[in-house]
Amino acid sequence: MKKVFVKSYGCQMNVYDAERMADMLATEGYSETKVMEEADLVILNTCHIREKAAEKVYSELGRVRELKNEREAAGRETKVVVAGCVAQAEGKEILRRAPAVDVVVGPQNYHNLPSLLKKPLSERVVDTEFPVEDKFDHLPKPSKAAIRNRGVSAFLTIQEGCDKFCTFCVVPYTRGAEVSRPVAKILDEALRLADAGVRELTLIGQNVNAYHGEGPDGAVWSLGRLLHRLAEIPGIARLRYTTSHPRDMDDELIAAHRDLPALMPYLHLPVQSGSDRILDVMNRKHTGDEYRRLIERIRKAQPNLALSSDFIVGFPGETDAEFEDTMRLISDVGFASSFSFKYSPRPGTPAADIETQVSEAVKAERLARLQNLLEMQRQAFNRGTVGQTLDVLLEKPGRHPGQMAGKSPYLQPVQFESDRHAVGEIVTVRIIQAGSNSLFGEWIGPGSQAAA
Ligand code: 5AD
Ligand code: SF4
Repeated sequence: MKKVFVKSYGCQMNVYDAERMADMLATEGYSETKVMEEADLVILNTCHIREKAAEKVYSELGRVRELKNEREAAGRETKVVVAGCVAQAEGKEILRRAPAVDVVVGPQNYHNLPSLLKKPLSERVVDTEFPVEDKFDHLPKPSKAAIRNRGVSAFLTIQEGCDKFCTFCVVPYTRGAEVSRPVAKILDEALRLADAGVRELTLIGQNVNAYHGEGPDGAVWSLGRLLHRLAEIPGIARLRYTTSHPRDMDDELIAAHRDLPALMPYLHLPVQSGSDRILDVMNRKHTGDEYRRLIERIRKAQPNLALSSDFIVGFPGETDAEFEDTMRLISDVGFASSFSFKYSPRPGTPAADIETQVSEAVKAERLARLQNLLEMQRQAFNRGTVGQTLDVLLEKPGRHPGQMAGKSPYLQPVQFESDRHAVGEIVTVRIIQAGSNSLFGEWIGPGSQAAA
């Protein structure tokens, strides 16, 4: 049996795509390996969101080239595939810069991998055209064993691409226009996952709350409606979705946070900046106050909401005062967790051409201050759960023997002593201590969602 090694960079969409590639290659006779040295096929599923992420690929390809040469000297062939968003954005340039690469395949084309891999090694190929057909129709279904191996919490792509064109972002170019999968196909995949023991679904998409898929009734379904339907699936106890845009938080979705117990009280809703001028130049189409009011409305629906966001510091032209506006927004809103980045100019995006780029030193200083504040908020949020009883979905054995590890509704890792609980169970745990990354608790009883 041939072996495939898949390495994924970047967002959850890439994790999902990497799993689909592995499922597809399993039907082509490849088994997955975690050891690159023993792989007949190496796939790097790449990310282009920031320069650092994109450059990582080329340094990894240097290592892959050495490996390929060593294996070749031992009489073994290795095929190397670059997939994902760097593949989409750079195409042929990858073949020029990285001689080890045999196939370059975009995020919308990886269903073609079996035929691309059948070409002789001497024929290096690039497949990055946006196809008219839906790649999902060409992907094999994962086996029950493959789903079980991946655990009780699964990603499910419901939407791809983005039409928002934030001026810093490559996604509309690498992932293309916004497309929603039809409800029937999502339900089919969700049922299959539930049947194999999955308890938690995280619906993913570059702009997931813009979802507007065709329903079985012929009507267009919103994300709120889809969530209600998915919550009816036996076995599915928890639902999450990511990543969202503030402009697409409609009333139905906000109401779902109030009405649907399976919808976890956690929301990743990137704001990027707290300055109205910067938000405007970013083309975010909302102000800082509009974001504040939106969060108020969502918190009214779900008072326990753990809020998460992405931030960019040092966007072109960002002044000290504008950066302070972001710090103020963070203080006003309060975040349970977050991701923050220095602005990275991406070729082909409008913001990369703005002349007033912020210096690296200023970006570094702003990022440090911002991350310090966000870290304090994260720790305060975690400390706030000490003494509470929370439902925990058990995902794996804990760090030490006799422990189990799982996630709280707020996506916090939780550990507790247990010798009689199984992965996939939901139990009630009283939180007794907040560590730097995990919460520690004690078992109290079965979880309130356990009967699902
Ligand atoms: N520079 C820095 N951060 C970026 N992001 C997207 N594009 C860039 C860029 N050019 C961040 C945004 C987005 C997250 C996924 O990555 O915060 O929400
Ligand atoms: Fe990029 Fe998100 Fe903006 Fe779309 S909404 S352009 S994915 S940052």
